[in-house]
Amino acid sequence: MKIEQDRISVGGIPVRELANRFGTPLYVYDEEKIRANYRRAFGAFRKYYPNFEMFYAVKCCNNPAIVNIMRQEGAGADCASVNEILLAKSVGLSGEKVMFSGNFLSDDDIRQGLESGVIFNLDDISILPRLLKFGKPEMVSFRINPGYGRSNVGEYVTNAGPNAKFGIHPDKVTEAYRLAKEAGIRRFGAHMMTGSCITDADYFPFVTGLLMDIIGKTGRELGIDFEFIDLGGGLGIPYKPDEPGLDMEAAAQKTAEMFRNKVAEYGLKPPQLKMEPARYFVGNAGYLIGSVHSIKESYRKIIGTDVGMNVLARPAMYGSYHHIYVDGKESHARTKLGLCGQLCENTDFWVKERELPADIAEGDLIVVENAGAYGFGMSYQYNGRLRAAEVLVKNGAAELIRDRETFEDMVRHTHVPAYLTK
Ligand SMILES: Cc1ncc(COP(=O)(O)O)c(C=O)c1O
Repeated sequence: MKIEQDRISVGGIPVRELANRFGTPLYVYDEEKIRANYRRAFGAFRKYYPNFEMFYAVKCCNNPAIVNIMRQEGAGADCASVNEILLAKSVGLSGEKVMFSGNFLSDDDIRQGLESGVIFNLDDISILPRLLKFGKPEMVSFRINPGYGRSNVGEYVTNAGPNAKFGIHPDKVTEAYRLAKEAGIRRFGAHMMTGSCITDADYFPFVTGLLMDIIGKTGRELGIDFEFIDLGGGLGIPYKPDEPGLDMEAAAQKTAEMFRNKVAEYGLKPPQLKMEPARYFVGNAGYLIGSVHSIKESYRKIIGTDVGMNVLARPAMYGSYHHIYVDGKESHARTKLGLCGQLCENTDFWVKERELPADIAEGDLIVVENAGAYGFGMSYQYNGRLRAAEVLVKNGAAELIRDRETFEDMVRHTHVPAYLTK
């Protein structure tokens, strides 16, 4: 994103031009930035541990164009559901490049996961006998809850520790692999995903140490090797303008060092190191363009936009911060204002008070920063406010990668019993 003489552009295209062409609210992704983010993270970890691979967690931004960018960069896919597996396979990823990390799986999930030939990452020991009812995969991984997790928005996206629903308790890990070994499974992986959006480089080696102490003991006791150890995602981005970012070099170097030391300590055959981040790749490469529709003077001044919690759920869900720019007015005098969307819910009033240009007016465009991760994917149709369009920009050209929803989309798949139409 660039601001020149107050005018904002993304990927070399003025946001006003994008809004005129595609309408608002509009998600815009900068392809070059996604690729640069991927290469920075992958390059750093690969440098310190050459047998390293990255999978992209599809849930973060599931547009097939984005998943294709990741595939072109060499990433596999981390999938939370059968439909995400179908998406990953539709862009040409093979089974070995797809990890199925769903939780509380149904029999249908298990059956379809097996048919698709992906790597199963089991969230609980109880899934194993159910999986074996349908077939025996060559390889199995277990998701381990190493007892500690963190995030930038408290417990909301902290995915490990005593209050998390994910993963296997450390005391049950050896039993899980023992059962898999006894069932004749010969190839093993191990996984954790402890929390999202961490910008502290020391966090990653710390949780790696926790996981490796669990895995190391299990490996020794059962005499099994791990083909890969997946440290999950969690590579963070700053959301506030003055927040420091993650020192990727330090995170990679310290994590690789911890990993190597623990592999040696427990005498493990050196496994492949995997990670499956997502926010770090697409978060700051995605922008949400919205329009100011009306301005109300009530108990305070409230700017009414088409960016509501239906379009961007994170602020209402997690209380998370997203920086807002106003096209054409960034250098203007500021005052404290509120800003909301159009839903009939007061949680839609997602900025209660923020310094914004004092002369913000009807017809202005706002640009919400860091909207690429968990933005469109979490959007919904409440109040008949339909999902936004998505656009990919590169070298000054824009491509529509998802149509804006229409009324037909809102009523598609609904059925009215005949007697109700009389
Ligand atoms: C299992 C799993 N892996 C990876 C990720 C990606 O996390 P992040 O976007 O923090 O890198 C998530 C996100 O919730 C996840 O649930």
